[in-house]
Amino acid sequence: MAVEVIILAAGQGTRMRSNLPKVLHPIAGKPMLTHVIDSSKQLGAKSIHVVIGHGAEQVQEQHCNDDIQWVIQKEQLGTGHAVAQALPSVSMNNIVLVVYGDVPLIKPETLKKLLLASGPTALSLLTVELPNPTGYGRIIRDQQNNITAIVEQKDATDSELGIREVNTGILAVPADKLSDWLPALSSENVQGEYYLTDIISMAVKDGIKIVSQQAETIWEVQGVNTREQLAELERYHQEQQAKVLMANGATLADPKRIDIRGKLNIGLDVTIDINCIFIGNVSIANNVTIGPNCIIENTTIDHGSVIKANSVLDGASVAKHCIVGPFARLRPGTELLEKARVGNFVELKNTHLGNASKVNHLAYVGDSEIGKDCNIGAGTITCNYDGVNKFKTTMGDKVFIGSNSTLVAPLNIAKDSFVGAGSTVTKDIPEKNLAIARGKQKNIEGWSRPTKKTKS
Ligand code: UD1
Ligand code: CA
Repeated sequence: MAVEVIILAAGQGTRMRSNLPKVLHPIAGKPMLTHVIDSSKQLGAKSIHVVIGHGAEQVQEQHCNDDIQWVIQKEQLGTGHAVAQALPSVSMNNIVLVVYGDVPLIKPETLKKLLLASGPTALSLLTVELPNPTGYGRIIRDQQNNITAIVEQKDATDSELGIREVNTGILAVPADKLSDWLPALSSENVQGEYYLTDIISMAVKDGIKIVSQQAETIWEVQGVNTREQLAELERYHQEQQAKVLMANGATLADPKRIDIRGKLNIGLDVTIDINCIFIGNVSIANNVTIGPNCIIENTTIDHGSVIKANSVLDGASVAKHCIVGPFARLRPGTELLEKARVGNFVELKNTHLGNASKVNHLAYVGDSEIGKDCNIGAGTITCNYDGVNKFKTTMGDKVFIGSNSTLVAPLNIAKDSFVGAGSTVTKDIPEKNLAIARGKQKNIEGWSRPTKKTKS
């Protein structure tokens, strides 16, 4: 029997107080719904149906590249009603797995266990014991410990309210059974909703076996209704990721002060100081040190390199034994070769910096190809843009650019050449030449300083 996943994501999320649909609020930089879709994909499901309502267009747009069957639920009449909207597009021979778009951290392994426990004739429920079960549907069991019903908080009696085993809402059930039960749901309850949970007592009546699985942690079945809960889940998730990094051999100055919004691969003996953010795909090899307050996005850093405090790297590749920062900015297309150095207040964009070349202070180098052992002085600027087109600067090996030079591209500076400080270079420089392009210094002898004018 194949599995079809139904993700409920139509609710408004009033308590978020947001114009953004609730399921698009991010955890670790990724919308909650995307987390659930990604976990569902790992189950090898035949199809994924997402029930949407509030902000439907925005939700669809965000996932336009995913292979999803969208189901519009015009009015949110309850979880049972939501599943019923998706059922016509589900094959009756399959198992339906119901998950929630606002329960983002559910683990694929847990869902797999739940699916294994279900089958053509069983309904399986994911439950969890909570110290404080307020708000959740309670799991009612008989004397033989068999589940007989789920009672919603608002419909529960005082003694039922004392039950701490609750419904996570996540369940697996044969599609043909759902098609028997859903049309029979009634909205005669305190909330006037069609409760999916009412199928439990129907299953009992039909003699269908009800099995349950317990979630491993409360976090993976925790729903988000408020921004406070969103922040709690974010912190939990980040701490879990930090634990994985440490288990893999990284030293974290403070595991509570690191944020990974994407995939971070690390080698051994990587040291990461506080307040670093890693975005997208980042790969860091052995013995790399990252200083505090760095933001590193879609970047690879080879072994032994040091990224000093407050550096921002995006779309860069850093070879081994480089030193970057403090306060450096590497923009997309930046490639540092071995032992290159980029210092404070230096911005590099779409630039290859050759082996052991240095740009140590206050410079902008864009669209450039720089050889090895070059030294680019403080205050050097490549003028790579005329307001319409971008132009390239190339430099051979062992070029020395004096401080405060302006390199007007397109420009080719051949190897071993030297640019005098303060030059505005507009013409190519041949090998081993010295280029100076600045006003000549004039010293005026006997010049007297201005004096303060007295009021007459
Ligand atoms: C539901 C369960 C409750 C369980 C709790 C776990 C029911 C009746 N109750 O209650 O037993 O303990 O989840 O969190 O199922 N949704 C729709 N369309 C609707 C209604 C809801 O898509 O018409 C979606 C919501 O967006 C949300 C999810 O279904 O993602 C759950 O809905 P919600 O109203 O929050 O259910 P609870 O009252 O929390
Ligand atoms: Ca509700």
